[in-house]
Amino acid sequence: MKDVYILGVETSCDETSISIVKNGTEEIYTTVLSQMDVHANFGGVVPEVASRMHTENITMVLEETLANAKMTMEQIDAIAVTYAPGLIGSLIVGLEFAKTLAYVYKKPLIKVHHIAGHIYSNNLVKPLEFPLLALVISGGHTDLIMMEGNYKFKPLGRTLDDAIGETFDKVARVVGLSYPGGPNLENLAKEGKPNLNFPVAMNDDSFNFSFSGLKSYIVNYVNNEKIKGNYVEKADVAASFQVAAVKQLTNKVEAAITQFRVKNMIIAGGVSANEYLREEMTKLAEKYEVDLSIPPLRLCTDNAAMIAAAAFPLYYKGEFEKFSLNPKSQEYFFEVKE
Ligand code: KG4
Ligand code: ZN
Repeated sequence: MKDVYILGVETSCDETSISIVKNGTEEIYTTVLSQMDVHANFGGVVPEVASRMHTENITMVLEETLANAKMTMEQIDAIAVTYAPGLIGSLIVGLEFAKTLAYVYKKPLIKVHHIAGHIYSNNLVKPLEFPLLALVISGGHTDLIMMEGNYKFKPLGRTLDDAIGETFDKVARVVGLSYPGGPNLENLAKEGKPNLNFPVAMNDDSFNFSFSGLKSYIVNYVNNEKIKGNYVEKADVAASFQVAAVKQLTNKVEAAITQFRVKNMIIAGGVSANEYLREEMTKLAEKYEVDLSIPPLRLCTDNAAMIAAAAFPLYYKGEFEKFSLNPKSQEYFFEVKE
């Protein structure tokens, strides 16, 4: 069978990334240009600045990727691009760039949902084996899903309020940490003790999650201690938060593993970079002899390799897009059709 080289484009937030992936599993070369340092000056991602920086940098990111891959556009079989969800201006830059490449070089255009991309990043580690339990934990998603095959998503549960990444970012702000909140909070937690016994929510039979109560509890705890004139050890708050948040995830994952006799599991999304979470999930997988895959750190956060990997099953089905394709700032990935 002929090898298939897909060029992926990802610009949904503040990373300009282009990658070439062979046969959906083998990363040839990935360039990720992070704008984090610029946005850190503003305390968070500024959408208008993000779009402008994508526009300034995307051609250079393509050139760097092709040069390092030692490939030309003629050798590429298809162009894959994140069309949803994300910052609309940022998505537009990547989508119009991908359309232009597809038009000029006469390549098929494939649309990829960003969260499907996070899931398929695991294909770059080892091929997904179905049925599969997938835990998606990112800035906007907390989802537990069964996958029966490629793009066959069966939702078990999701967050009823805030996403876990969003909660890491909010709690980081409460303890005075700057953007990016998640990784900073994890670093602070390493210096603290999880001795504050924050509540673990959602002790019910569902597979849904909830994090807004934990966030409010911590806001109130920090404020009350301050009013009382007590010293608040922020590292302990960070460590205790991490334990309570991750415990909620492991509780639900454990219930799903036992109920559905799970053999294969993956974790995807930015929060899967969290070391404590990786350790706890690994322990759980060992206990139940589940084959667990978590992407290496650089594939946990946004990158185009995952987009090119996720496009591969769509390439085989001939799911190609017209140039009228529009980006969507919000779209749920369960709506992605098989
Ligand atoms: O998947 P992602 O890069 O972007 C979205 O698609 O949302 O996830 C970003 C989220 C942010 O909320 C960020 O704070 C969180 O992932 N995150 C982390 C860590 N690294 C990134 N949260 C906890 N610990 C980390 N090490
Ligand atoms: Zn992401």
